[in-house]
Amino acid sequence: MYVCICHGVTEKDIQQAVKQGADSIDALRAKTGATSGCGSCLDVALDVLDANRSPTLPDFLQIIPQRESIPA
Ligand code: FES
Repeated sequence: MYVCICHGVTEKDIQQAVKQGADSIDALRAKTGATSGCGSCLDVALDVLDANRSPTLPDFLQIIPQRESIPA
């Protein structure tokens, strides 16, 4: 499935980037280019990123969204 049409980035590309160490949207953007065009793929890219990276918090805290895009 294509996640980012602007840069032709697929879900598998994101999974591969995560395996290679991309653990944030900035790292994913640097490795794949996803989200660096029109930006409309940001939510889906974050969902795929979150689904594929190793959890760093206990399970009971995983319900809290970890999105770098939420403004301060
Ligand atoms: S669809 Fe990803 S930047 Fe446009």
